[in-house]
Amino acid sequence: MKTDQYTEEIVYQWQKTWSEKDLVQSVESCGNDTVLLPYFVRYLPKNGKILESGCGFGHWVVYLKRMGYQMAGLEIVPECVETCKKFFPETEMKVGDVRQIPYPDNSFTGYISIGVLEHMIEGPEKTIMEMYRVLQSGGISIIIVPAFNYFMRLWYPIRQLFVKLLRRNEFVRKILGKQSYPSSKNHEFKLKIKEIEEKVQSQFWPVIGLDIVKGPMFIEYKCKRGHLEGLLKSKGFEIVESAPISHPHIFHDIFGNLFLKKGGEFPKGETLQLNFCGRFILDLFNALSPHFFNYVYIYVVRANK
Ligand SMILES: C[S@@+](CC[C@H](N)C(=O)[O-])C[C@H]1O[C@@H](n2cnc3c(N)ncnc32)[C@H](O)[C@@H]1O
Repeated sequence: MKTDQYTEEIVYQWQKTWSEKDLVQSVESCGNDTVLLPYFVRYLPKNGKILESGCGFGHWVVYLKRMGYQMAGLEIVPECVETCKKFFPETEMKVGDVRQIPYPDNSFTGYISIGVLEHMIEGPEKTIMEMYRVLQSGGISIIIVPAFNYFMRLWYPIRQLFVKLLRRNEFVRKILGKQSYPSSKNHEFKLKIKEIEEKVQSQFWPVIGLDIVKGPMFIEYKCKRGHLEGLLKSKGFEIVESAPISHPHIFHDIFGNLFLKKGGEFPKGETLQLNFCGRFILDLFNALSPHFFNYVYIYVVRANK
């Protein structure tokens, strides 16, 4: 398995995230999912085996197995696999990298990838090629990636400028009453950001975060409409369906808790709920175009071999 610095940082980020969640509760809430579940029911084959690649602690693997699908899970964070084995010992789940899947060619009739392709700094090509390799001819894959929607295209460059010019400026931080960057780390951080910026793929929108321990880290790419579709086609997949999906989560990503109902904020309420203004804004944006303020894109594709 690859263990470069960026892969280690992926493991670090997700170890933290999953350690704060409750697997048993997450399995239960899969049944209330109104976005993904209908796609799974409509498209996942009941014959043959399905791999969820980058499955976290395996809540969908467990839930879909209960529904009668033959499931396997793959995840790079070893603690996730341990947790799943502890609560649901009969689950087939392995530690591994989605870019080097530990299964032979043509092992699966179905493949699920929810929020995974965007985490490879070198881009999603290798993951897509591996997905193709392990799928049988005619196998179905359901893929979800975060959208770089039209709103973000307008807003993010402005925000980026603000971050570069103002948020990292110590004088401005003082005026805003924000903690200053540790001066000993300032130079180191700038070098790391430069290194990340040189590595990222320009066709996607990279999100770079600042971690208290690790400093600046590559988090994920947001994908423009159509870009991933082209890539999937070029690697041998036929598009069965693709759609923009809106979700209250996007309000949290962009505006924090401003447009969320009290008590339904992240991370307290796993299912975020919009307040009246949030609902109004979302309806307005969706009336403009479903691509204007969507959270993710979903692709259902078939491997043509
Ligand atoms: C956004 S989470 C999604 C988890 C799960 N699919 C879900 O729907 O909740 C992304 C997951 O992909 C895993 N991941 C990221 N890069 C990976 C890689 N190269 N190989 C295997 N898993 C990876 C992360 O550890 C994390 O658990």
